[in-house]
Amino acid sequence: MTAQIIDGKTTAMQVRAELKAKISALPNAPMLAIILVGDDDSSLIYVRNKQKAAAEIGLKTELYHLPKDTDEATILKIIDDCNGNAEVNGIIVQLPLPKHLDTHKIINRILPTKDVDGFHPYNTGMLQNNEKPYFIAATPLGIMKLIQNYCPNLSGKNVVLIGASLIVGRPLATLMLNQECTVSITHIHTRNIKDLTRKADILVAACGVAKLVKADWIKSDSILIDVGINRDNGKICGDIDFDDVIEKAAAITPVPGGVGPMTIAMLLQNTYDAYLIQHSAL
Ligand code: GUN
Repeated sequence: MTAQIIDGKTTAMQVRAELKAKISALPNAPMLAIILVGDDDSSLIYVRNKQKAAAEIGLKTELYHLPKDTDEATILKIIDDCNGNAEVNGIIVQLPLPKHLDTHKIINRILPTKDVDGFHPYNTGMLQNNEKPYFIAATPLGIMKLIQNYCPNLSGKNVVLIGASLIVGRPLATLMLNQECTVSITHIHTRNIKDLTRKADILVAACGVAKLVKADWIKSDSILIDVGINRDNGKICGDIDFDDVIEKAAAITPVPGGVGPMTIAMLLQNTYDAYLIQHSAL
């Protein structure tokens, strides 16, 4: 049997169309402030894509593109200004930051009610407690939406995550746990990783290693979520070897066209929600 393709692009387009209609009914456009430090190639592309997608649905962005040697105080001042500016509804700091900067200190300065990336400890802590945070990180939120469209009841599923990052692995593990899944988080120090991945009903690869996951890593009829965006001989590919697993899995998110478009759509959703929160409408 050939795996069903979980089409993130179409789902993301639906989310964006719904947001566009809702935003056009607001008295003014929500605004997202984006702080980008340095000229990392991938970050430049991600930020450009976020700005383009925002503009298409009537959401404003303000980009603070700073040189890579910018000091911490300058960035904290920009965040303070955005925190205090009622016109700014959401603030994100594109990661990774250059090594001389303290990522946690910078993220923690963003007001939790404007932290549309959902990285502030208030928001991650509320998620951990299974309470309602203001915001949940966009990539895990997008993944949950795709999985729940395909498989609405996740209770009791064995979920294995490859990667324990702040951006994907950790919040996604919590979201899955909150849906009554049994969750294993694997990482670079995990021994005999295939013993775990072969038991997964749902396997999420978010480790940034091109085509790491092969057919012998997976259980038959599993659901595979590929968060990787890598280049292999110039061609974009994920962390899962798509051609190798396609006859064995039940469903898979393609790269491109799977998780990536959902991440952007969920960031736009969070920014719209931030506007509502700040206007006491949510
Ligand atoms: N770098 C990679 N993914 C993300 C993301 O979702 N948000 C931010 N701020 N930086 C990232």
